[in-house]
Amino acid sequence: MVGRWLKTSKSWSDSSTKNSVATTLSRRRSCRSFVERKLPKGLILELIDKARRTPTAGNSQGVEFLVLDDKSAVDDFWKVSFSGKDKSKFPFPGLFRAPVLIIPFGIPSMYIERYKEDDKSYTNLGEDIKEWKVPYWLTDAAFATMALQLLAIENQIETCFIGLFDREERIKENFSIPQNYEALGVLILGYPDTEEVKVGRSQKRERRPLSEVVHLGSWHSPQ
Ligand SMILES: Cc1cc2nc3c(=O)[nH]c(=O)nc-3n(C[C@H](O)[C@H](O)[C@H](O)COP(=O)(O)O)c2cc1C
Repeated sequence: MVGRWLKTSKSWSDSSTKNSVATTLSRRRSCRSFVERKLPKGLILELIDKARRTPTAGNSQGVEFLVLDDKSAVDDFWKVSFSGKDKSKFPFPGLFRAPVLIIPFGIPSMYIERYKEDDKSYTNLGEDIKEWKVPYWLTDAAFATMALQLLAIENQIETCFIGLFDREERIKENFSIPQNYEALGVLILGYPDTEEVKVGRSQKRERRPLSEVVHLGSWHSPQ
């Protein structure tokens, strides 16, 4: 049930244009089945350049991206991911056809160095990685990755973000990623296979009501 304070027939936001943030967000769903068609050359670089306008803590800018956009590199990623496991049992084989994979990395050392500087030294965050209750390098990587997803959708490209889990070390080694870089996960991009739509079990879960997730003014808002 929507709480009293949230019930309104008026729309407060302006989402009239086709590519408004609101429209693009409402169109976004995880796509788990792609066709092999390549993305326009240069598009991904352009989108990443735009996506990296998202904020970073202390303007540390400690976020970098590994872009795999040729078939042999993408195949290599999946081969390394599934090493020792049976790839044929994977429920979403349509993911393997996506032409582009992007792995965003957060670089803790860049944040430590930045927070050692005079204007940030009061935080003590420049002392040690253990001081960071929130790993801002991953926060910032996530902000940029979300922006990248919205920009992709605006360009008729579908996406799926997935975790790396125990694959992270193997992937880092295979693609010569510096040891201290932390991977956020993998953003899979491409054009959807409309004939093989796959919906994951997580995707079927209902969205929680707004009144349950927003606590307006105090934790126990009137219903
Ligand atoms: C941090 C994160 C990790 C995820 N990891 C996986 C994953 O490992 N495999 C997968 O199929 N989907 C993964 N997803 C996608 C979610 O399952 C999906 O976003 C969720 O079910 C909601 O569906 P929607 O994206 O279509 O709205 C992940 C999403 C996020 C944000």
